[in-house]
Amino acid sequence: MPLTSGYILRDAFAGGYAVPAFSVHSEAMVDAILAEVDALRSPVLLQIGQRAIRNGQMQVLAQHIARSAQNVRIPVVIHLDHCHQFDQVVQSLRAGFTSCMMDASSLPYSDNVQATAAVVNLCHAVDVPVEGELGAIGGVEDDVAVADEDAVFTAPDAAEKFVSETGVDSLAVAIGSAHGMYRREPKLRLDLLREIRAATGVPLVLHGGSGIPREQIEASIQLGIAKINFDTELRLAYMAGWRAGATSYPDDPFSAQCVANEALRQVVRDKVDWCGSAQRV
Ligand code: G3H
Ligand code: ZN
Repeated sequence: MPLTSGYILRDAFAGGYAVPAFSVHSEAMVDAILAEVDALRSPVLLQIGQRAIRNGQMQVLAQHIARSAQNVRIPVVIHLDHCHQFDQVVQSLRAGFTSCMMDASSLPYSDNVQATAAVVNLCHAVDVPVEGELGAIGGVEDDVAVADEDAVFTAPDAAEKFVSETGVDSLAVAIGSAHGMYRREPKLRLDLLREIRAATGVPLVLHGGSGIPREQIEASIQLGIAKINFDTELRLAYMAGWRAGATSYPDDPFSAQCVANEALRQVVRDKVDWCGSAQRV
C-alpha cells in the first residue's frame, strides 16, 4: 500500500497499542523488517536517523522504503529520527518522508519551542506530523551523548505547555529510558508517564526501547506510549546473525544473509508482540 503518514500514532494511542519504530541502516534491513511486520499485519515506522544520514543513506533508504511499501499490506511510515537542523527536515520532506522528529531538547526551553514550532509549521503545510522532545533522554544516540547524571525527566506541566506552544503531534518523553543497551535494568517512571499523558493528551513516544523488559514496555503502552523506538538491539542481533552466517557459509552470501535476516526478524517479532501491534491491519 502507499506510504502512510505518521498520524497512525493517533490510532495506536486510542487503541491501547504502540507502533514499533525500527531504525534502518541498509536496504537489506528494510526488506527483512518489512517482511516480518507484513506477515504479522503490524503497522510500522521505519526510521532513518543521523548515523544512516551521515552514511549518505537518506535518499537511498527513503526511495527503497517507498518502493517496498507498494508490495506490503500494512501501513508503512518513513520517519526522520533525532533531527536537529531545520534544513534536514526540508531535505527529508523532499525525499518523501511522512513523519519527522525535531529534537531540540538540548536547547533552552524557549529555543526548543521556537525550533520545534517552526518545524511543525513547515511539516503541517504538507500534512506530515511532528514529534518533539522535552527533557533529556540518557545514553548515546548517533551523535548525541547524554550522561546518566545529565538525563532530565520530562515535567508534566512543562510538557503541557510545550505541546500547546509548539503544536507537536506526539511527544518523546524522558521517563528513565536511555539510548543503547542498559548497564542495569531500567526502571521507567510510570507515575510520571501517567501525569504527562493526563497533561498533554497526545501520543507519547518512548526512546531507547532496546533492553527495556517486556512488562515495562506493556505498562508504558497502557499509560499513553504510542510509538516505541528500537535501534541498538536490532543492529546487535543483525550483526551477530551476519557473523554466524559468515561462519556457517563462508563462501555463500545468500545463505549468510538469510541467517542475518532471521536473527533480525526474531527481534522484530518480539517487539511487535510487546507493542501489541500485530493483527491491527
Ligand atoms: O531514536 C532511536 C531510539 O531511541 C533507539 O534507542 O538504540 O536504545 O533502541 P535504542
Ligand atoms: Zn531516540
